[in-house]
Amino acid sequence: MASADGTHPPLVFSGMQPTGNLHLGNYLGAIRNWIRLQNQYPCLYCIVDMHAITVFQDPKELRDSIRSVAAAYIAAGIDPAEHIVFNQSQVSAHAELAWVFNCVARIGWLNRMTQFKEKAGKNRENASAGLFVYPNLMAADILAYKATHVPVGEDQKQHLELARDIAQKFNTDYGVPDFFPLPEPFITGPATRVMSLRDGTQKMSKSDPSDYSRINLTDDADAIALKVRKARTDPEPLPSEPAGLEGRAEAENLVSIFAALADKSADDVLTEYGGAQFSEFKKALSELAVSTLVPLTDEMNRLLKDPAEIDRTLAHGAERARAIAAPILREVYDVVGFVR
Ligand code: AMP
Ligand code: TRP
Repeated sequence: MASADGTHPPLVFSGMQPTGNLHLGNYLGAIRNWIRLQNQYPCLYCIVDMHAITVFQDPKELRDSIRSVAAAYIAAGIDPAEHIVFNQSQVSAHAELAWVFNCVARIGWLNRMTQFKEKAGKNRENASAGLFVYPNLMAADILAYKATHVPVGEDQKQHLELARDIAQKFNTDYGVPDFFPLPEPFITGPATRVMSLRDGTQKMSKSDPSDYSRINLTDDADAIALKVRKARTDPEPLPSEPAGLEGRAEAENLVSIFAALADKSADDVLTEYGGAQFSEFKKALSELAVSTLVPLTDEMNRLLKDPAEIDRTLAHGAERARAIAAPILREVYDVVGFVR
């Protein structure tokens, strides 16, 4: 893996917002791919607390959430001794570079962002200005390190295209052709878009009012089993090949989740379960989900018993992140023409 132009060494960056509970979509769509990449490349995994406050967060809940996302990263297998795990607000280069990018990105580009439209809803005038420029901060997160690869779920694709546009426009406007890499999305695996367990047309999300729509990383074995049992399906048995899932969003979602958890293709799963009733398939899915997620939850809870240790890990990560970002930001300031 090298950047498109080969001039930037591969470096992985990704992040998650500390808002509410992490769920199976976050795990299968993002964190699991992060773990795979850490064996091959240097990685930075960030807890994007500055993104979180684009929508009001209760300060105490935010603090708890930052620590629990850090615990989830580590419990899932990210090694904070080898790689850089930190929270965004401890590294001021993110905010500083975001300001420069606020001046590079065009309002027309931001107006096209579907996530803003979804999150702002009908009352756009009342959304925070931060929510509107959020993708510029995301571009700054990545480019403050000149990161080349960004493992995310499908829903972040448009934001990454914007980050590429910003990098390109900066390089062109300032006449520094290879200054920033054009970061590449890394969207892989059978579950880049995990859907709600209640409605196969909606993505699994922390903001869904129904807790039955998602499996949280804090759910215990009983909760997981109950949610899988109650997951919406149709009356037909499972087909024996993926083509038979067409028009059956809920069935397709459960098969994708099974495939991702078992590290198999949907094809393989249907070869095994084709013709089976959902009651039988759900039993197997529930066992698989419990055996994968419960050890992770237990480890997360163990880590959360010592918040001071988590804070030390984050401070150490931030220090290492600053050491990479500071010289890049100085270069940016020179390129832009600031005097220092
Ligand atoms: P967020 O929860 O919005 O902070 O997202 C954190 C990461 O999880 C991003 O890489 C998302 O693309 C990914 N993600 C969130 N929801 C899902 C989902 N339902 N399916 C797959 N990936 C998801
Ligand atoms: N916007 C991402 C999300 O909501 C989180 C994020 C912020 C991110 N900065 C990033 C992801 C940089 C990858 C790289 O999921």
